[in-house]
Amino acid sequence: MTCVVCIAGDGIGPEVMASARQVLKAAKAEIDWIDAEAGLAAAEKHGDPLPQQTVDLIRKYRVALKGPCTTPVGGGYRSINVRLRQELQLFASVRPVRTLPNVKVPYTDVDLIVVRENTEGLYSGMEHVVVPGVVESLRLVTRSAAERIVRFAFETARHQGRRRVTFCHKADVLPLSDGLFLDAARTVADDYPFVEFEELQIDALCMQLALDPSRFDVLVMENLFGDMISDLCAGLVGGLGLVPGANIGERYAIFEAVHGSAPDIAGKQLANPIALIRSAALLLEHVGQRRAARRIEKAVVACLDDAVDLTPDLGGKGNTDSLTRRIIAKLEAELDASD
Ligand code: NAI
Repeated sequence: MTCVVCIAGDGIGPEVMASARQVLKAAKAEIDWIDAEAGLAAAEKHGDPLPQQTVDLIRKYRVALKGPCTTPVGGGYRSINVRLRQELQLFASVRPVRTLPNVKVPYTDVDLIVVRENTEGLYSGMEHVVVPGVVESLRLVTRSAAERIVRFAFETARHQGRRRVTFCHKADVLPLSDGLFLDAARTVADDYPFVEFEELQIDALCMQLALDPSRFDVLVMENLFGDMISDLCAGLVGGLGLVPGANIGERYAIFEAVHGSAPDIAGKQLANPIALIRSAALLLEHVGQRRAARRIEKAVVACLDDAVDLTPDLGGKGNTDSLTRRIIAKLEAELDASD
């Protein structure tokens, strides 16, 4: 059994987390869940949306599955996600994006991974008022973090048999910060002569993703660009309800869907649980439970293939619960067949 910290989160978080846990159980994943709090309820109860005991539990057990947490816009408290990524040095955000059956999108053969630097850039939290009416936000780039994330992207390419790493930047208008990042990327690329290295301006990347996303393999970039490009890429394959994510560091890893707490549909059983279920499958891969992970991915694809009981974001008439039951039925059928 692997102990995994479980943070249900806010909004649709508890609904999709309940679904993911049922699916993992049906896939015969060997997980002991350690429940922990973060988000709005934790803020009310403990005076901190990210209580110290939650961070301590992740430090102890090393892996967590996390639902989305609400961040108040324009103040209130600092993003829990940014705090977790910086405090636990979860330096790499990894989002595999691939075309799924029966999902109506203009593209048919997308299969790429977005690797985003998770700890620096404009998310370093260094903002100050210069004089009233003038605010400065610092975009931090260090060579060590830049080399670390690019090396991670190349290692991901190597492990997954991918051929090309595309480094995305804006070094023409940011010659110091992105210039440093680009130089670090070139240095690391020299260590991987068997993986093709490509440099692309971030605006050109956006246009090329719209024209032909199938040409990309592994994309790597700094924090803010990566935040936006991850959501853009989720849109290429059907939206936020489908795409999984992982935040990986040297010691700890937190798996979570790309989407937020979706307050507009919370409590209505309308949330698509697939993104969190697939994030849980990535977690299973990470802890070495590959067979259960593959079973889950296969069951999800089979349900999309059937196109029955899908949630409204996929054009279906089902809900969170009916889709969960259908995925579980697929898993049970496969396990029966393999007995
Ligand atoms: P959002 O991702 O929560 O929602 C955007 C739109 O997508 C909404 O219309 C929502 O109904 C829909 N949607 C999202 N997930 C869905 C799902 N699983 N199934 C069906 N439809 C889904 O983004 P938004 O509205 O910008 O953010 C809401 C809150 O979530 C904010 O407080 C934000 O800070 C937080 N957030 C948290 C994240 C995290 O904890 N990792 C990530 C992104 C946002």
